[in-house]
Amino acid sequence: MPIYHQLGRVPRKRHVAFRKDDGSLHYEELVGNEGFAGPSSLLYHLRLPTAVKEVRSYRGLGWSAEGERVLRHRHFRTAKLATGPSAVLDRVPLLFNAEVALQMARPKKEDDFFYRNGQGDEIVFVVEGEGVLESSFGELAYRAGDYVVIPRGVLHRWRLGPSPVRLLVIEGAGYARTPKRYRNEHGQLTENAPFSERDIRRPERLVTHDETGEFRVMVKSGNRLVEMTTTHHPFDVVGWDGYYYPWALSIHDFEPRVGRIHLPPPVHQTFEGDGFVVCSFCPRPYDFDPESIPAPYSHQNVMSDEVLFYANDEFMSRRGIEKGSITLHPDGLPHGPQPGRTEDSIGAKATSELAVMVDTFRPLLVSRQALDVEDPTYHLSWAGADSK
Ligand SMILES: [Fe+2]
Repeated sequence: MPIYHQLGRVPRKRHVAFRKDDGSLHYEELVGNEGFAGPSSLLYHLRLPTAVKEVRSYRGLGWSAEGERVLRHRHFRTAKLATGPSAVLDRVPLLFNAEVALQMARPKKEDDFFYRNGQGDEIVFVVEGEGVLESSFGELAYRAGDYVVIPRGVLHRWRLGPSPVRLLVIEGAGYARTPKRYRNEHGQLTENAPFSERDIRRPERLVTHDETGEFRVMVKSGNRLVEMTTTHHPFDVVGWDGYYYPWALSIHDFEPRVGRIHLPPPVHQTFEGDGFVVCSFCPRPYDFDPESIPAPYSHQNVMSDEVLFYANDEFMSRRGIEKGSITLHPDGLPHGPQPGRTEDSIGAKATSELAVMVDTFRPLLVSRQALDVEDPTYHLSWAGADSK
């Protein structure tokens, strides 16, 4: 994220001796993508960040898709998914391709280990609950409605608040970022962007753990989990600075655009990845021309699969959905409002819908777990059959 940030103590210059009170050195670590050319941060550790005493393969992730790809509109009721206790090990894959994956997590207890995704950036939408994302970069509070962006390589742990936490994890193989058209040549978000740097929340409190002993770290790489045992607490950073760290943006801080007549979905864009975009559909007044049709027109998004995650039970063009529903409208078919929704939208003043859209540029596969919660008649709902 192109905002410089610093927490804790850092030396006057990069790559110089930075000593502790006893005269010994702090250990500098650069974390960044694209070698030494992309966004990066420099961290200063009490002990060597490379010190591990054991490494072992934990397990493969083994995602499998339905046997034969089915071409029809799909609806999955993810609220019915059974998920395991961990926020990171028990994520249920729903839709995926080589560039992006959507997964659901409903953690029941805090992990007693730390986690690093070594193969993808994560945009985690907090569907419900609250807590603190703990990382080498400090503590970042999260709450329902937040997108928590965790660049690859960031060691972290999800701490859970008292109420149930539900997470939609959007994992991209490329670099998750704000849309280029929202940024000027200096990287700053422009006045035309629907959110600003002021809306971006960065780690706030750096807690330095000066503890030796055995600590478990899980690393995801090559679609496998590897377990490492370190010789000291990995969150032993006394200070850091740079442009690479976890950050949060609330969907409620996205300023929706409204026109006299219908504006197309790109006005809702919030993030871009490689091979996908993420859009936010937020509560807003409707189009204000008396003849305008606020509901979208039917459309074929050729060369794109369109996924909607419904964060509440209202969506202007859709019926039969509930909080936690996911619809998949694949390339190759037109889709649009269900019967009556276009007519009903004329003259309506506002919508309270809240939804996250992920448009992918290549086809998505449906996981076997998603089939367990599929609404089997959704694709017929435009012909008058009810979607139950
Ligand atoms: Fe669409």
